[in-house]
Amino acid sequence: MQKRLFIRTYGCQMNVYDSARMVDVMTPLGYIPAAQAEGADLVILNTCHIREKAAEKVYSELGGIRRLKRARERQGGRMVVAVAGCVAQAEGEEIRRRAPFVDIVFGPQSYHRLPDMVARALAGAGEGVFDTSFPAEPKFDYLPENLTAPGVSAFLTVQEGCDKFCTFCVVPYTRGTEYSRPTADVIAEARRLVLAGAREITLLGQNVNAYHGEAQDAGEWGLGMLIRALAEVPGLERIRYTTSHPRDVDDALIAAHRDVPQLMPFLHLPVQSGSDRVLAAMNRRHRTDDYRRTVGRLREARADLALSSDFIVGYPGESDDDFRATLDLVREIGFAQAFSFKYSPRPGTPAAVAEDQIPESIKVERLAELQALLQQQQRAFNQSCVGQIMPVLFEKPGRHPGQLVGRSPYLQAVHADASPDRIGEIVPVRIDAAAPNSLGGSIVAAVAETEERAA
Ligand code: 5AD
Ligand code: SF4
Repeated sequence: MQKRLFIRTYGCQMNVYDSARMVDVMTPLGYIPAAQAEGADLVILNTCHIREKAAEKVYSELGGIRRLKRARERQGGRMVVAVAGCVAQAEGEEIRRRAPFVDIVFGPQSYHRLPDMVARALAGAGEGVFDTSFPAEPKFDYLPENLTAPGVSAFLTVQEGCDKFCTFCVVPYTRGTEYSRPTADVIAEARRLVLAGAREITLLGQNVNAYHGEAQDAGEWGLGMLIRALAEVPGLERIRYTTSHPRDVDDALIAAHRDVPQLMPFLHLPVQSGSDRVLAAMNRRHRTDDYRRTVGRLREARADLALSSDFIVGYPGESDDDFRATLDLVREIGFAQAFSFKYSPRPGTPAAVAEDQIPESIKVERLAELQALLQQQQRAFNQSCVGQIMPVLFEKPGRHPGQLVGRSPYLQAVHADASPDRIGEIVPVRIDAAAPNSLGGSIVAAVAETEERAA
């Protein structure tokens, strides 16, 4: 009998990938994806613990889920509720206390065991199933081949976990130590994704450029080598990767940006702060000059490279001068887009117990000032694209009828009038208009026709 599975995904792209794999492991048991939690047989919240706000969302969502579960029970049905991901890993006990109706709590490393956990929850007397272990066997070896249709642009996790221990970050605790998948597995998965319709693959990892996968020819490959090999996969037209650490940008990766045309000229390279004092306190293991040098070398390799970054304002002890240094670095480097956050103390991390915490009011002010500057740079970058002809990979229907939306090489969303059969194609589009978060354009062949008609 068919059963309905609803997954709500929070946080990063890694969670998006993980949620798709959860669907894959449940599909053989007759579960099909549902669009809403109401009436579902299995509800999974795949959670994010990176900042307090992200974690709190889970508890408020659970309030609604509890009502739906009770309603289903009153109708004689059953709804198994699972909390997965990084909140589950970090706060399993607290979930148990605050939401005792949750049937299953499992961390990011154990979702290959989901069918077994669901069976135990259904058989049990409501005492709950908990699995937040870091199993010795990597889950990737136990996952079925991707069953879920990947779409035009697919994610592929190649690396997980982090050994860097930045003082603000929970990732090394929730995702564990660094693990790289063997190169043969990654290439095989890429081939399957392309056969299933993907034209673009984004390689994922918390620290993706620390990738060091075991290779068939013995030894290990870094990310640069892996990208070169993936460029040989027929039909794979675009390659991206995220998220990188400035310290792990090596010569081979820079060379890949120079030599591999499928590797898109857009890089998310978090710097976090423009102050060396703050970077040292954060245990970032790079200085601002290292970042400048790395960006310089990347731009030498690929002149049109556009950059994105992450910033934290109000890290403990951040002075006004430290913050000004961040603004200066932003002005100097120039970002096509960026994410910025107020520092959020995370339980168990060293920075959370620092004494010189910054008052909320100052964090709010600094974030507003930084975001104004970053938005100005993003608008200027988008504006500079107007008049250019860009190859756009169309992904799906746009907001308006007759429109498709796709991505430029620089990851900007581009809207253009086009027939749905062009989804999955890379099409030259002349950019006519820039909005803060997207571009609008016309397919170049269509432009030529219109101009011919007008002549
Ligand atoms: N507070 C605020 N931002 C954080 N990030 C990670 N941990 C925290 C925290 N405790 C940000 C960093 C990271 C991004 C994914 O989230 O900028 O690069
Ligand atoms: Fe967290 Fe990234 Fe630092 Fe690792 S490198 S600890 S994931 S911020």
